[in-house]
Order: sequence, then structure tokens, then C-alpha cells
Amino acid sequence: MSAFSDSQLREIRADFPALHQDVNGTPLVYLDNAASSLTPQPVIHAITSFYAKDRANVHRGVHTLSQRASTRYEAVREKLHQFLGADDDTEIIFTSGTTIGFNMLAHGVTAAFRKQLEQPDAVPQVMLSELEHHANIVPWHMMYDLAAQCTKNPFLRYFEFDQSRGLLNHPDKNGCDILSLTALSNATGVIVDTNAVVELFNTPPQFILIDGAQDVVHRHRPLDALIFDAYVFSGHKMCGPTGSGAIAIKKYLLDQLSPLIGGGDMIQSVSWHQTTFQKGVHKLEAGTPSIASVIGLGAAVDYLSDLDVHACHAHEHALMTYAEEQLSRIDGCRIIAPGLEKAGALSFVVDGTHPHDVGTLLDEQGVAVRTGQHCTEPLMNKLGVPGTVRASFMFYNTPEEVDRLVNATTQAVALLR
Ligand SMILES: Cc1ncc(COP(=O)(O)O)c(C=O)c1O
Repeated sequence: MSAFSDSQLREIRADFPALHQDVNGTPLVYLDNAASSLTPQPVIHAITSFYAKDRANVHRGVHTLSQRASTRYEAVREKLHQFLGADDDTEIIFTSGTTIGFNMLAHGVTAAFRKQLEQPDAVPQVMLSELEHHANIVPWHMMYDLAAQCTKNPFLRYFEFDQSRGLLNHPDKNGCDILSLTALSNATGVIVDTNAVVELFNTPPQFILIDGAQDVVHRHRPLDALIFDAYVFSGHKMCGPTGSGAIAIKKYLLDQLSPLIGGGDMIQSVSWHQTTFQKGVHKLEAGTPSIASVIGLGAAVDYLSDLDVHACHAHEHALMTYAEEQLSRIDGCRIIAPGLEKAGALSFVVDGTHPHDVGTLLDEQGVAVRTGQHCTEPLMNKLGVPGTVRASFMFYNTPEEVDRLVNATTQAVALLR
């Protein structure tokens, strides 16, 4: 079944210390990778070596440690650029993750839109999809909830999601100013062809933002094949440290983007009553960054780049197909969006049970899954479920772990129904 031989898989797994432990008296099966992936040894080493040797602030000191820290930190921009397959028009802004990325963009893109129109209160038409994570919904609510217009003139519309057909054409595709879409749904694992969505519009949206939080590690298309202005992702879902992430952004948008956060390191000059910002990515990186996290993210990129990415994705795909097939055989177990093309995550519900109860019983058997709404409450409401059980996969998971998931679910169902 696997694109890896047993020995290749064993070698990969040996890199992830957290995999090798017992939970509740039985070997851990970690299937919560969509929430956060595990960390390989080279990433742990990169972080500890920064703290042990190069521990200083970046961009500020003329002394050797600060220079070393700055060099290691800045090198990660180029690593990410290469890893993503971005073109020369794309820059990398470091963030602490997807959530802050969308908050920065909601603020910055709105300001750019208003500036272009020379109307300081203008509210752009924003289109999202019903698959979005709260990180790509709430910042838009926060931007415009207080605008008087929004009660009269709904500014926010959603491409509908259908469990058998995927994203549906919105009846009004005549235009929007901002299109902000996930490329891979964390709650359902459903893949979204964002280029095809963009091409639905008679006039392309002015700003196209893509949530790559799940996409970045489970797909292998280079970024320059994607139609986007900004692509947002988190490091901790791609084997990097928590508190790391980035926005890959087209230069023309970067030039127009005003910062959400002000302070040290992002300024060109400050007087008592005025600030001018640095040019380029630095104007968006105020204050001391999470230096160790960025350096760890660089090590994660090195690690992933050394793997055969096609084999990783083929392996994950085989695991998911097998899991979907096996789970659907359990009486009462319903896969969300069965048959749709998915990557990374598989969500299901067991009729007559609450997902948390299933998740708790799975944990008792050492199987870690995520249960609940997955930060997609409107989607769960639309699906008419209180939440789902989500098993999410990474290239280091094994077919035997899928068997453990299926067996544990069968036992949980027998107890609960
Ligand atoms: C699709 C998607 N978008 C956004 C986020 C938010 O990412 P973070 O919590 O790393 O900021 C997540 C995290 O689960 C996600 O899966």
C-alpha cells in the first residue's frame, strides 16, 4: 500500500522522538497532525543550538552573536522561498502563524483598498468559502462589524460547500474586491482548487488571499502555479516549531500593505509625532521576533526538502484512502464529504454518539485524534453536526496505525451505541 518501504518508514519515524512513547499503556498513534505536526530531531537540534550558541537578538547588535543569529534567521526567508517554489515577485514575511497572518492581511488589504479609492470608510466586498477556519472569518468580522454599511449592504459572502460536490458556484460571481480562500479544509480534508474559483469571476478579485495552513505540507504544486497575492501558513503544521509561520506575498501588495503592529525594528525613523516605516517585509515584523522558531522552521524546511515529497504525499494519500474505506464499514460511521478529493485529514461522525466521547475512548486506546468543531463552527452548523472526529495524517504514519484507529473506533462504537 505504501509509497515507502518498511525500512524507509522506520528511518523517517526514528527522526520523531514523540512518536516513540506509550499513552495509556499502549504505543501512541498520533493522528492529530492537522492541529499540529510532530517535530523531527533536526528541528529540535536547530532550536537548542540557537539557544546554546547564538542566543542574541537579531538586526540590532554589531556583536558576533547578534550577527550569527541574524544570519541564521534571515537565511530562512530564502529557504522558504525555494521550498514553496515562489517566483521572484514573491517575498516572505515571518509571522507567528496563520491567524496573525490573516489579521495582518485583513487590516492591511482593507487599508490598501480604501487608499486606492481615496475613501477612508469604504467597505470592500469580501468573498470566502464555507470551509474557512475561524482564522479566515473572524478578522473580517472584526474589520467591518462596526462599519455602518454592513447592515444595509452585506459585505461578506461565502462560496457554498456541498458534501458531495465540493464548493459550489456562488450565484453572484460578478465580483468581489477581496477573495480569501482555504486551499485545503482543515475540518474535512477537502482540497479546493483555488485557481478554478478565481477563474469563475468575470472580473478577477483585486486581492486574492489563500489559506495555506494545511495545503503547505500536503500538496506538491509550486506556489508560482497558484493565482494569489498572499499565501498564509503556519510552521507548526509542517514539522516546524509552534509560534512560527509566514506570508508569501507579491511585491506589489507588500508595497501597499500598512502594518498592523508598530514598534521597534519596523521603523525607518521616529520623531515625537511621526513614524516612517521601513521598506519591504521588515515594516511588518515589529519587535523581537520568535527567533528560535524561525530558525527551527528553516530546519523543518531543510528536513522536508530532503524527503521525497511525491512519495510522502502518495503515502499519505494511500493511508487516507485505506482509512476512509475501513471506517465507512463501521456501522453508524459516516465520513464527511465521502468520495471528495482530500488530503491530510479525514472527518467522520458516528450516529448517536458525541465526537468527544468517541475521541476520549480512542485516547484510552492510545489513538490521538481531534474532536469538535475544528475552529469551523459555521461549517459544523451547516453540516448539522455538533462536531466531528478528525483523524489527520502525516508521512510518518503507518497502515498499522490506521488499523489501530479503525479497531479503536469499532470498539468505541460498540460501547457507545
Ligand atoms: C486551514 C487553517 N487555517 C488557519 C489555521 C490557524 O492556524 P494557527 O492556529 O497556526 O494560527 C488552521 C489551524 O488549524 C488551519 O488548519
